[in-house]
Amino acid sequence: MRVLGIETSCDETSAAIVEDGQTLGDKVVSQIDIHRNLGGVVPEIASRRHLEDIAPVVETALCQAGVSPSAIDVVAVTSGPGLIGSLLVGVSFAKALAFGWDRPLVAVNHLLGHVHAAGLLPLPPLVYPSLALVVSGGHTDFLWLTGPSPRQVEVLGRTLDDAAGEAFDKVARLMGLPYPGGPAIEELAKKGDPSACALPAVGRLRNRYDVSFSGLKTAVADLLRYSSPNPADLAAAFEVRVADELASRAVRAAEERRAREIVLCGGVAANTTLRTRIHEAAAAMGIPFRVPAPALCTDNGAMIAAAGEAAYTALGPSPLDLEPQPVVMPFRRPRPGGSPGYLERRRTEGEQK
Ligand code: KG4
Ligand code: ZN
Repeated sequence: MRVLGIETSCDETSAAIVEDGQTLGDKVVSQIDIHRNLGGVVPEIASRRHLEDIAPVVETALCQAGVSPSAIDVVAVTSGPGLIGSLLVGVSFAKALAFGWDRPLVAVNHLLGHVHAAGLLPLPPLVYPSLALVVSGGHTDFLWLTGPSPRQVEVLGRTLDDAAGEAFDKVARLMGLPYPGGPAIEELAKKGDPSACALPAVGRLRNRYDVSFSGLKTAVADLLRYSSPNPADLAAAFEVRVADELASRAVRAAEERRAREIVLCGGVAANTTLRTRIHEAAAAMGIPFRVPAPALCTDNGAMIAAAGEAAYTALGPSPLDLEPQPVVMPFRRPRPGGSPGYLERRRTEGEQK
């Protein structure tokens, strides 16, 4: 199946053509340079830029792939979550293409797009059940995936406040670093010693797979206000703290549920410390781990095409009166006793012996 994927949920206008996990052509136009001077993404400016860029971006992707519109089987587009004005541009454009080309339209959940980025070549196809940690600017979700369909997803844990990327961005702002904060903190942290600054671990939460970053952010603000930490040490300590909180939960969830692999994805997955920490923790438990190349961690059209194929295969086309959904219903938590938990599995295993 040859799928055109369109992504405009935030500040990247992107399109790609994907067939059997192979990206035939792709184009990403980032607005970061525009928003950096304004301290963050300005929604009104973002949607106007998407409007200017969307047609040339799609055309470039098609040209690069060397395919004509008649060779496209499905048009996939991010329908949410994201900024309403930004989503509206991509969804309207995709609807027009699907109608004009007489091809099915399929709506893609942006978070599942991030997951499917990890199934693009050169990585092998995704395997199930798996534990996916999606860490982006707006989300931090520990997802339990039992298959490729959007219906085969449950959320085991999530952030109770800031998303990991949001925490990076806010801490960077506190430290006077530019937007986006993640890459800026990562760069500064390379010269720092994480053990030189004490930052608190996240305390006990009711759901042990949930995470919270607001206390950590406040601790950074207090350190900056009341002492004069070395900025590189502080950046390194913050990065390691976030990475360890995420790695411990992801690996514990994967181990307890017997995931066949751990998938790390989303913009923050571009962070080398996070990649390394999860890789090491997963290897120690003998759990396979995968993460897309850094360029496929941030928003791109190829991931939407890949997730679009999975959604279309499982659920068929979306209606042409599809509307963008800035806020998407969160994935459901597992029903108590629904999927086998750790204790239940132990009991069953004990009975079998
Ligand atoms: O997935 P993404 O590109 O957009 C959303 O869907 O939100 O994620 C953007 C987030 C930003 O918060 C950015 O600071 C963070 O990803 N990010 C990073 C790195 N690169 C991007 N965070 C930590 N380290 C990085 N290298
Ligand atoms: Zn994203």
